[in-house]
Amino acid sequence: MTNSRMIPKKLWNNKVLYQSEKLVEVYKEKLIELSLYEDARKAEEYGKGAVGGKDEEVTHIHFSERFLASSTRIQYVLLNPNGEFDVMSKDLQVTFSSGNISILDIPSGTGAGILSLLCNISELRINSNLPRLPLYIDIVGGDFSSSALKIYRELLSEIKDYLAQQLIFIEYKAIEWDAGDLLSTNGLLKNWIIDEDAYEEYYILMSAFSGVKEPIYKEFEESFKFIQNYTLHLVTTTMYIEPASNEGKKFLKLINRLMQMIERWFEKDKAVTESRFNWYDAIRENKAKSTVSIELYKRKEL
Ligand SMILES: C[S@@+](CC[C@H](N)C(=O)[O-])C[C@H]1O[C@@H](n2cnc3c(N)ncnc32)[C@H](O)[C@@H]1O
Repeated sequence: MTNSRMIPKKLWNNKVLYQSEKLVEVYKEKLIELSLYEDARKAEEYGKGAVGGKDEEVTHIHFSERFLASSTRIQYVLLNPNGEFDVMSKDLQVTFSSGNISILDIPSGTGAGILSLLCNISELRINSNLPRLPLYIDIVGGDFSSSALKIYRELLSEIKDYLAQQLIFIEYKAIEWDAGDLLSTNGLLKNWIIDEDAYEEYYILMSAFSGVKEPIYKEFEESFKFIQNYTLHLVTTTMYIEPASNEGKKFLKLINRLMQMIERWFEKDKAVTESRFNWYDAIRENKAKSTVSIELYKRKEL
């Protein structure tokens, strides 16, 4: 397990978080390919109002303005340089150390969260902070923007061989999903859980849903409940990860209320759930500030 002294200097230096080089490389290449690189470099405010959406233009704005900011949040929790997220960091590092894991990544967007998680696990393996054991991860991303899903698939394909060098073997599907539609959620779950016995653990990564803003995400409540009910009999962990903005906190309050109904089946990490940190934006070549707010629910052993 890492502590701040063990984190590779290229990821955490002088109290500043640095993205994995591989993540920056594939992100930059994609920006250039989509003719978004100059936009990304010019964006001064970190995506005020850019939350992503169904159509391509909004997706591209979000991709050029917010991708790296999103990806730093899970990286900060995983590396835990200031020791606030001991339980969550340990949970991520243990879960993603070996074996067969299945991830539901929602809303996947263009993959900022999952790419950051995978690239950073890989960096920790390269640096011998984590054991280099075979790890098989099946990923299902769901989002209602088909253009975001296209980028998601392409970026995962770009890092697949890089991960395999560290014995992290990924397979992935990216599926159109509308969180406001129960039938669509049913379809997503059927695509995700095909063979229940194939995995040791199921992981639901729900990151930056609050960007959709209240009251719209209230329409997703039934889907969120459905997802939890559907996986209640499985060894499932759900990580809700949001910026520590007013909107993010409001969203996590809603999640708290929903999870209370089924909390007897879960262990909730009750430690500190919020933090602020500095990170280096390798595209804009400047330092930036970010916040993270997080809740972790782990299914109790039956
Ligand atoms: C702020 S992004 C988060 C993406 C990613 N998880 C991250 O951390 O960068 C919000 C995403 O929610 C998606 N979204 C908005 N409404 C949705 C809905 N009704 N169903 C599914 N996805 C939706 C958008 O397309 C967008 O990709």
